[in-house]
Amino acid sequence: MRDRIVAGLTSIVGATDVLVDSDLRRTYETDWTGRFSGTCTAVVRTSSTREVAEVVRFCNSESVDIIAQGGNTGLVGGGVPRSSSDRPSIVLSLCRMNSIRDLDTAAAQVTAEAGTTLSEWRDHARASGLDTPVDFAARDSATIGGAIATNAGGSRVLRYGTMRQQVLGIEAVLGNGEVVGSLSGLPKETVGLNWPSVLAGSEGTAAIVTSARLRLVPRYDQTITALVSVANIGAAVELLGQLRKSVSSLDAVEVIEPAAMDLVAEHLDVEQPVRASQVGTYMLIDCAGHNDPSSELADAMAAANGVIDAAIATEGPPRERLLAFRDRITEAIATRAQRIGLPPLKLDVAVPLNALGQLLEIAQQAADDDGALLVPFGHLAEGNIHLNYLGATNLDQVTETVLTKVAEMGGTISAEHGIGIAKSRWLHLIRSPGDLAAQRAVRRVLDPNGILNPGVLTPDA
Ligand code: LAC
Ligand code: ZN
Repeated sequence: MRDRIVAGLTSIVGATDVLVDSDLRRTYETDWTGRFSGTCTAVVRTSSTREVAEVVRFCNSESVDIIAQGGNTGLVGGGVPRSSSDRPSIVLSLCRMNSIRDLDTAAAQVTAEAGTTLSEWRDHARASGLDTPVDFAARDSATIGGAIATNAGGSRVLRYGTMRQQVLGIEAVLGNGEVVGSLSGLPKETVGLNWPSVLAGSEGTAAIVTSARLRLVPRYDQTITALVSVANIGAAVELLGQLRKSVSSLDAVEVIEPAAMDLVAEHLDVEQPVRASQVGTYMLIDCAGHNDPSSELADAMAAANGVIDAAIATEGPPRERLLAFRDRITEAIATRAQRIGLPPLKLDVAVPLNALGQLLEIAQQAADDDGALLVPFGHLAEGNIHLNYLGATNLDQVTETVLTKVAEMGGTISAEHGIGIAKSRWLHLIRSPGDLAAQRAVRRVLDPNGILNPGVLTPDA
């Protein structure tokens, strides 16, 4: 069976792009955190939509599961093989498909293949005086396809929305090998179901995204970044309100809890740039415009209560140094986790802003009960907190406690990382049986034999 699968795949993409040796497969079979891993028959690296379609048709006829993978920066186990599966599977790596074409300045759009990294997309846009509406710390490895599949967000969501809002056209391969969608990118079109809407957030289950027509935004060269310490999360939310009201250049409003600030400062081996005593939380505020945003930011901060201290930097290395306190938290967590010898438990949740304080209390209680270290940070503007538990022993208990409360608060158990296999069991907290049944039925139509990322995004696993 194995030889037959390898021979079939080799006839489609060639022997160099069917990785069979365990040494070659390894980096594709384990996720970035080291929490999730499994074994596949082969890693298949396609170079065109035609090849993807042929691989899918072959796997569909041979009942081989397909795990689509981009930069393998996922945090919920959705991009690596299932450890529990007894069916043969392949990792379909889209990384070789990274060409970018047809940038249209007037339409502010570009077409990128699924394996294009966020950095490549951004560099390409900037070379034409434009920019990308989505950005996050994993930009050098994370790909367009993965970002669409998880409906990724990042720091600019308050200005431009999530990945879903950036996709004006899509090309994808269904579970039977059929190629669907269009890359014409017409902003106005109503002709039935809209593939970008159907597939954004589908986590490689309904189809495999091969290319997308993507929105671009203006490139602002006047930037200012402020790292601010405030008395508590309520003060942070109040300042957010002031900023939204009066700062037209507002690009990102992020939150860094003291435990995260301590960890990242230690990791970077630098002093914290703002006063830390009596501080409830830190905010990272980013503004960008065609005109200098300094005075509108200063005015908004002066109008808010509870601001303790602020460090401010405009373009260049000083600004990069401030941004590092936000960008490099995940890396700091991974380094500490390695030292402890246990992968971190990562819960990516969002709640209404007025419930943030309560969420953080409950999350901390769960950490104390377990004896774990909680490192929270995230995207304040969307009420989206990344709860990282280091050294946790009873993962299911912590997850159950936190996600149940989040659901009770009207929040979501995944804001941008996806459900993957990590949170499938808790889907029922935020989706009704009827809703789940409808999603199952849609999936069955698009992927009749259930070969696309089985076990992901389903409570039936
Ligand atoms: C971030 C990733 C972990 O916000 O979502 O840095
Ligand atoms: Zn995030």
